[in-house]
Amino acid sequence: MDMMSRIQHALDQQLGRARSPSAPPRLMAAMRHAVFPGGARIRPQLCLAVARACGEDAPALTDAAAVAIELLHCASLVHDDMPCFDDADTRRGQPTVHKLYGEPLALLTGDGLIVMAYQALAHAGAAHPLRLAGLIQTVCDGTGAPDGIVAGQAWECENRVDLGQYQRAKTGALFVASTCAGAQAAGADPQGWRALGECLGEAYQVADDIRDVMLQADQLGKPAGQDAHHGRPSAAANLGLLGAIDHFRGLMQAAIDSVPECPSRGAMRQLVLHESERLIPQSTCDRIERERRAAPAASHVVA
Ligand code: IPE
Ligand code: IPE
Ligand code: MG
Ligand code: MG
Repeated sequence: MDMMSRIQHALDQQLGRARSPSAPPRLMAAMRHAVFPGGARIRPQLCLAVARACGEDAPALTDAAAVAIELLHCASLVHDDMPCFDDADTRRGQPTVHKLYGEPLALLTGDGLIVMAYQALAHAGAAHPLRLAGLIQTVCDGTGAPDGIVAGQAWECENRVDLGQYQRAKTGALFVASTCAGAQAAGADPQGWRALGECLGEAYQVADDIRDVMLQADQLGKPAGQDAHHGRPSAAANLGLLGAIDHFRGLMQAAIDSVPECPSRGAMRQLVLHESERLIPQSTCDRIERERRAAPAASHVVA
């Protein structure tokens, strides 16, 4: 089974475990809507790829780690889209959960997915209690306070925000959890895989900020121009478009360089390169660089 099919199957199975005649049908439908058809699934892909690189020997535990991380990511998007945060009407080209099901169910959908993430870990981790303890710690670090998604979103309620700290918490931390959990699910030391998650995660948010400025809603599958609209700290606003692209490329190169020595090093680097090209194609970087040379003073506002 290829990696994407494996992820989709594992997510489907986990949601299926919550199916019950006693369950509120609209909550179940809203939870499924938040997870399927899904986006790039980059975090679970990373988790599986690192587990493989570390000599994966407990595939059910790897699946559970990947599922837990993707469910937490989906939960964070449901909450992030709600009117009290970014008030977005679309996500992945579809109406957001609160648009389809209302705010109370959107809140509960996010909550339900967070709990389900830990249910997935508990289910598969019973056979590997020592690995489970480390996995729970890793997933909590990526999602809670002081440095996970909760902290990252909370920086939006502060008067002074450091852009890097904000981006590392709201997005980078779950990428660190993805690489580290992949290693831990395979019984390996996660430390050597931290830097890949850190660099790729920060690059991912920088790219998201660039795309928010450069692309249209139909290309993004979600509203465009949101960072300026909500006055959010953004790499594009702080560094200008060219500065943000340079920053993105530097972080992606650091991600590629950080991949530890292992038999699948080439495949892992390919995965990072593929993501880099998908997010901000080289042809876009070249075009913007040409425009900067042609009109240096105005280049930071080219979109
Ligand atoms: C969107 O994440 C939110 C950010 C952290 C930038 P993704 O771009 O990974 O969203 P999906 O899962 O592919 O839709
Ligand atoms: C990422 O930031 C949000 C989360 C960590 C949930 P954004 O608010 O920029 O993500 P998008 O643009 O809505 O996907
Ligand atoms: Mg948002
Ligand atoms: Mg964004």
